[in-house]
Amino acid sequence: MQKPSASLSILSGRRVLLGVCGGIAAYKSADLVRRLRESGCEVQVVMTAEAQRFVGAQTFQAVSGRPVRDSLWDEAAEAAMGHIELARWPDLILIAPATANTIARLAHGHADDLLSTLCLASDRPIALAPAMNRLMWAHPATQANVATLIARGAQLLGPGSGEQACGETGAGRMWEPLQIRDAVAALFGDGPLNGVRVAITAGPTREPIDPVRFITNRSSGKMGYALAQALHQLGAEVTLISGPTALAVPAGVRRVDVETAEQMLDATLHSAGHSQIVIGTAAVADYRVAAPAEHKIKKKSDGLDLTLVKNPDILSEVRKAFPDAFVVGFAAETEKLAEHALEKLTRKRLDMIAANWVGDGRAFDQDHNALHVFWNGGERELPSASKTELGRQLADLIAQRYTRRADA
Ligand code: PMT
Repeated sequence: MQKPSASLSILSGRRVLLGVCGGIAAYKSADLVRRLRESGCEVQVVMTAEAQRFVGAQTFQAVSGRPVRDSLWDEAAEAAMGHIELARWPDLILIAPATANTIARLAHGHADDLLSTLCLASDRPIALAPAMNRLMWAHPATQANVATLIARGAQLLGPGSGEQACGETGAGRMWEPLQIRDAVAALFGDGPLNGVRVAITAGPTREPIDPVRFITNRSSGKMGYALAQALHQLGAEVTLISGPTALAVPAGVRRVDVETAEQMLDATLHSAGHSQIVIGTAAVADYRVAAPAEHKIKKKSDGLDLTLVKNPDILSEVRKAFPDAFVVGFAAETEKLAEHALEKLTRKRLDMIAANWVGDGRAFDQDHNALHVFWNGGERELPSASKTELGRQLADLIAQRYTRRADA
C-alpha cells in the first residue's frame, strides 16, 4: 500500500465507518475505501440491502480488509461488535453514495436498517456524498432534507455536476473518490490552507435600469463556486460573495448574497478585512445606470437613452485598502489572452491572474473551462477540464503560491 503524503497524514489511524447505499455510484466507493486505506484510515463498510444490488459485499470485504456489516439481525456480527458499540467506533460516519432515500430517512430519524440505526445511535460527525438523478437532487423535498441534516451538523461533500449514469446532465454526480478523500482530510482539520481565510467573489452583478429591469451578463457562478469549494477542501475558511445564481452554497462555505457591483464592493471589502486571500471570479459590470428610474419605464418613444457611469474596480479597491492581501484576479478575454491578462495583473497589482477565453460559448455558463494562470515571473496552463476539477487545480496553485509568499 502507498505511503500517505504529508498533507494526508492526518488521516493516519482515523476510523471511518463508510455507509454504502443503493446507487450506481456504489462501484466508486470500493475505490474510495482503497484511497482512505492508502492514507492510513481504518474503514468499516456498512451496506444497505439496496447497495448489494449494485456491488457485492465481497468486493468491500476485500478492499477494506474487514467483514462488511449489513444487518441488525446478524447474530455472529452482533456478538463480535454490537451495533451500539459499532456506532461508537468511528471518528467519522461517511455515507457515499448517499441516495435521496437514505438522506430522507436520516432527516426523519428512521432506524429501520443497520446504517440508519447507527447514524441515530452515534454522536460522531456525519458526512454525506450525495449521488442521484439531477431532478431528484433539485427536488424541494431532497433540498429540505439536506438542509435539515446540515442544520444538525452533517457535512455535505458534493454532489458534482456533469453527465449522469441515466444519460442526463446536471448536479447529482457523486464526487470522485480522491475528492472525497481530500474533503475527509480537510474535515479532520488538515490542508495547506488550514486557518487561512479567503474572500471570493462569484457570479454576475445586476445593475438596475428601473424596478423591474437590469443590466447583467452570462456568468453562472460555476467557476467561482467550484473554486470556493476546492479552497474549503484545502482547509480554508471561505466567504463567497455571490451575485445572483441558481447554485447551492458549497458545503462548509459561508455565502453573502449581493446584486450590484457596489454591493459586491462593500461585502468584499468587509470580508477582505479579515481574510488573507481575496479572489475575484465574479463578472462584475464595469458600468451601471447613472440614475435608475424610480418607476417602470414606459414604452413612449422609439428609442431610449441610458447614461452609464463607471463602477468601482473591486480588486483594485481591495489592493488599495489591504496592501498585504494575496489577491487573485480572473481575466475574461475574446482576444490577446496573455497580453490583456498580464496588463490586468500589473494594473490591478494582483499576485496572480487566471485568464480564460470567452465568447463563442466558452467559459460563461459552461460546465468545462480552461485557464492560463500568470504571476510575476511564472505561468501555468490548466487545460480543459470540468470546472470542479479546474477549481481543484487552481486552488492547489493558489495554496502553493500563497504559502511560498507567506514563507518568504
Ligand atoms: O460564472 P461562470 O459561468 O462559471 O463563468 C466563469 C467566468 C467566465 C465568469 C470566470 O471564469 C471569469 O473569467 N471571471 C472574470 C470575469 C471578468 O469580469 O473578467 P474581467 O477581465 O472583466 O475582469 C478582471 C478582473 O477584475 C476579474 O477578476 C473581475 O472579477 C475583476 N473586476 C472587474 C470589474 C470590476 N468592476 N471589479 C473587479 O474587481
